[in-house]
Amino acid sequence: MGRPYPPSPSGSLPPLNALGSLTEAQILAHLENLVALYCPLAFGTPADKDRSASEQPLADSGYASETEQLGGELGEELLRLETLRADAFERRTAERWLTGFMARAEALACFSSDAARQHALDQASWVLESFFADPADEGRLQGVAGQGGSSSSSSSSSTDFARTFSFELPPRISVSVIDNNVSAAGEEKQQAIEIRLNDGLAGTNSSEPDDVGLQSWGASIVFSKMLCADPARYLLDPAVLGPAPRIVELGAGTGLVSLVLASLLPRLGMPHAAVVATDYHPAVLANLRANIATNFPDREDGPVRSCALDWAELPAASGASPPPPPLDAPADLLVATDVVYAPEHAALLRDCATRLLAPEGVFWLVMTVRPNGKFEAVGGTVEAAFAAADRPKGRDGRRLAILESERIEKQKGIGRGDESHYRLYRIAWA
Ligand SMILES: C[S@@+](CC[C@H](N)C(=O)[O-])C[C@H]1O[C@@H](n2cnc3c(N)ncnc32)[C@H](O)[C@@H]1O
Repeated sequence: MGRPYPPSPSGSLPPLNALGSLTEAQILAHLENLVALYCPLAFGTPADKDRSASEQPLADSGYASETEQLGGELGEELLRLETLRADAFERRTAERWLTGFMARAEALACFSSDAARQHALDQASWVLESFFADPADEGRLQGVAGQGGSSSSSSSSSTDFARTFSFELPPRISVSVIDNNVSAAGEEKQQAIEIRLNDGLAGTNSSEPDDVGLQSWGASIVFSKMLCADPARYLLDPAVLGPAPRIVELGAGTGLVSLVLASLLPRLGMPHAAVVATDYHPAVLANLRANIATNFPDREDGPVRSCALDWAELPAASGASPPPPPLDAPADLLVATDVVYAPEHAALLRDCATRLLAPEGVFWLVMTVRPNGKFEAVGGTVEAAFAAADRPKGRDGRRLAILESERIEKQKGIGRGDESHYRLYRIAWA
């Protein structure tokens, strides 16, 4: 008797808010079902097992009709499995559950060890990756530069979900929070930066393959965590930036890093920090605006605003007229995460930064390294772009260069399975 066929995701997966009450074995069983359904070759379905058994040379028993009948039952089961696998609703249900599981895995207490948690996460990302391995999804993360005129259709709302990120602050910042924000009992109100986002699963809307900014990518989460954990390391200091620094994010996506900076800088003594979160994709910009409103409600003149900016449409020439407001004033800090995923991106970002960065400004660029053949062409493009002899000059004749480059390890439960690590660049005028 073979292993039972996997059940349908919609009929078997528990609600995400019930994950906390499941055991490790129950979670692994759900993941195993999804692997069996969507990654059948790797897993080996009962049908595969039975089929390989039936492919053994059969002694002529004289009961040919029994063999035919077995083939018929198998055929029906295989058809049922194929139908289930191809069902778009079931697949969306599975995607949503897996993404929700990955977002919550770090906080689930049921895992007996870090290795068990990592195994579960690997299973989840394996299935998710299989969804994006479809030929129709090829190029999902490629060649999107310069397509500012994309249609304005929004992402599939069925894969969107609200996500709350919490980034711990070091104790001394918590102390300054006490100073500014004391409850009646003198208790500290907040020791972490909390950001709520409408986050989606990019790439699920086949009519809108460039909607990669609808989800928060690993690099933005890891960088946000690093900024909060050690702000001084990233020069987030009023002595360096003054009380009213201007920050611009390129390719902001959901706006996570911008929202973190807008929440963090006032706590560090920069009450008038102004953050401009930019992107070029209409659906991404709409989601970004919604995320800003969620985190800073009732604040029309809040610390973050969104702005359309296509890197390919901001001429680098120093003699060109200033960019339109709100990008006309030079940025003290430029930030960008996971924005180098096509060969032309690094040079476009360099040219943008050349136009936008203030004379004493710093550009923190976090690149995601994906050791996958599709992204090989991107390797080395940041170093090449910022070392090119013919790169454009800024207003005072200087050029941008990489002053520091650091490998950042991937963190448990953060980022997709095809991300191996990140590289953080500190870029400034040289
Ligand atoms: C992989 S996503 C990363 C989003 C976000 N920074 C994060 O880390 O979650 C890349 C982002 O770059 C944006 N982007 C790509 N090409 C662009 C261009 N030419 N101009 C402006 N934004 C662009 C996309 O719309 C998307 O939001």
